[in-house]
Amino acid sequence: LAEAGQRKLVWVEQHSPVLQRLAATRLADGALRGVRVSVVVHLEAKTAYLALVLARAGAIVTASGSNPSTTQDAVTAALARQGVRVFATHGCPPAEFEAQLLANIDTAPEVIVDDGAELTQRLLRHRPELARGLRGVTEETTTGVARLRDLESQGQLEFPAIAANDAALKHLFDNRYGTGQSTFEAILATTNLLLAGRRVVVIGYGWCGRGLARAAAGLDARVLVCELDPIKALEAHCDGCTVLPLMEACRDGELFISATGAAKVLGGAHYAAMRGGAIVANAGHSSEEIDLAALAALAVRTEKPRPHIEAFVREDGSRIYLLAGGELVNIAAGDGHPVEIMDLSFSVQALAAHRLAAHGRALGRGVLSFPAELDREIAAARLETR
Ligand SMILES: NC(=O)c1ccc[n+]([C@@H]2O[C@H](COP(=O)([O-])OP(=O)(O)OC[C@H]3O[C@@H](n4cnc5c(N)ncnc54)[C@H](O)[C@@H]3O)[C@@H](O)[C@H]2O)c1
Repeated sequence: LAEAGQRKLVWVEQHSPVLQRLAATRLADGALRGVRVSVVVHLEAKTAYLALVLARAGAIVTASGSNPSTTQDAVTAALARQGVRVFATHGCPPAEFEAQLLANIDTAPEVIVDDGAELTQRLLRHRPELARGLRGVTEETTTGVARLRDLESQGQLEFPAIAANDAALKHLFDNRYGTGQSTFEAILATTNLLLAGRRVVVIGYGWCGRGLARAAAGLDARVLVCELDPIKALEAHCDGCTVLPLMEACRDGELFISATGAAKVLGGAHYAAMRGGAIVANAGHSSEEIDLAALAALAVRTEKPRPHIEAFVREDGSRIYLLAGGELVNIAAGDGHPVEIMDLSFSVQALAAHRLAAHGRALGRGVLSFPAELDREIAAARLETR
């Protein structure tokens, strides 16, 4: 497997000019040398390249996936061959996933590059004594930052936690353009169906939702938006989308994409109202967005018409199609964000990890912002490489 994974890594490296530049400049000052860093982000080639960049800067890196369905075994094989310790396998059962994350925690990380706070939450729950050795955490996602803020309000964040997601160079590009492009790449490759003219329901008009709506419109879909926040709903309206309550959208919609970070956004009543042939996909943090049990309860039987598609056949013979088992469709059924997008996101993460290694708890405690001057530096570097 390692050969195939290595080819993917080389491709990522060749298209990551900003990370390459940072590796030769800021990361080369020795601050990461000998520092134990755990990287727990969707373990495909871009994440693996970040792990390698940190390892080449001298860090002792241990990598795990943040979701078994998005781990790519070829990539983990290539990483392992290059001396990075890996605890991750594609599609492993939940108990094995837990064991892998615990094994990662038992390396006593000093810096955690986290996604969804998956490692940080477990470290605090299962090995609270190891929190003392943490210089800090840097968090990739909207959902993870929200979870860290919860931990902070419970007085559990004794260490700095950099909200990498909130960096401009992360959410403005990754959540918007990255999710927008890669979600439709995955859906169209998985289904081999036409988007032009299709009624696409985007649930949630945050950064991801905006990107999804824009990408769908660019591919000539008719875009319907469901959003709880009236200001964002008005923004969707002014962006040219049809804004309506979810129950109404269920009657009209043909392709549903959830990007809220909330749980059970789509439930039994929604599935019952959907037309036969409706397609359901998730682009938020985890399959929790979609109530899978309610979908299963509605079906008299299921079918597997194509890879990554499950058909739930209702009593009247009509079908609802679920993509990628409700997991993040763009990573579970595709290669995730474009490389250049992750070059930006992971430049933020690399600089955040470097900052934590260099300054640790002197940065303060609790959820911290990524410095605006570093955001500008990454943007300027990207523009120069263009
Ligand atoms: N698929 C990916 O590759 C990818 C990339 C980045 C972020 N994410 C994840 O996507 C999710 C959204 O991220 P974001 O940055 O857009 O967050 P955001 O906070 O900017 O937007 C989420 C929006 O969903 C709305 N919302 C919440 N519950 C809703 C409901 N029941 N119905 C309608 N709207 C609802 C909120 O009002 C908010 O406007 C998060 O879980 C994030 O971690 C996924």
